[in-house]
Amino acid sequence: MNNTLQDGSGQMFDRICERYDFLNRVMSLGIDGRWRKRAVQALGSDVGYVLDLATGTADVAIEVARRIPNSRVLGLDPSDGMLRVGQRKVEKAGLANRVTFKKGDGQRIAASDDAFDAAIMAFGIRNVARRERCLRELGRVVRPGGPVVVLELSEPRGGHPLAFGAGLWKRYVVPRLGSALSSTPEYAYLERSIRAFPRPDEFLELMATCGLRGGKAEPLTFGAATLFTARAP
Ligand SMILES: C[S@@+](CC[C@H](N)C(=O)[O-])C[C@H]1O[C@@H](n2cnc3c(N)ncnc32)[C@H](O)[C@@H]1O
Repeated sequence: MNNTLQDGSGQMFDRICERYDFLNRVMSLGIDGRWRKRAVQALGSDVGYVLDLATGTADVAIEVARRIPNSRVLGLDPSDGMLRVGQRKVEKAGLANRVTFKKGDGQRIAASDDAFDAAIMAFGIRNVARRERCLRELGRVVRPGGPVVVLELSEPRGGHPLAFGAGLWKRYVVPRLGSALSSTPEYAYLERSIRAFPRPDEFLELMATCGLRGGKAEPLTFGAATLFTARAP
């Protein structure tokens, strides 16, 4: 069974797009919003044009536009359904003049070299089959030295009882609750794909191999998510 969406077509996300935000809030107990805010902070304030890769329903794109004055965001995603929901939210937030969308694949980003001041990708890299190619693309389209921020779910770590609890929640509750609430089996995939994702130190190595400089990994909520920050070559 594959743990990534091999074709980057976003078909799985087309099926769950209308329930995606609700399911996220329930299954992360509302913590996912805090993680995205932390990731957007890591971009700094000195960025104008930002790529939100795997933008999905645009929570990160909206946060960037709200928090970083004068920023403009391009949200890129292969799923028509997720982009449709994202567009709706951006219009409702009155940000349609600063957040635009494009259908596309992170493994072949349709943008010229150094087109963006920064890039961010939240909970997306796990779904990409050729991660190395995607990371190289992020380094290519961001201007030299610009921030590249990747937020991803990970295996909770450490001896704290809450880390243990978070591990159990993710392994046993998330797939069942997700499948029940969404009436699809897609959420079993979520648990498998987190388990199959490289450890933070391994992922940092991959970022470095792809030319991204000064990589750092910060565990969030006992390592239930990890924030990776680096700079474009
Ligand atoms: C779990 S969602 C994350 C959405 C959003 N960033 C968020 O914070 O909620 C993963 C997204 O990755 C997208 N995706 C899947 N394959 C992709 C690819 N090859 N390139 C870019 N995005 C991809 C999916 O369509 C989906 O919208």
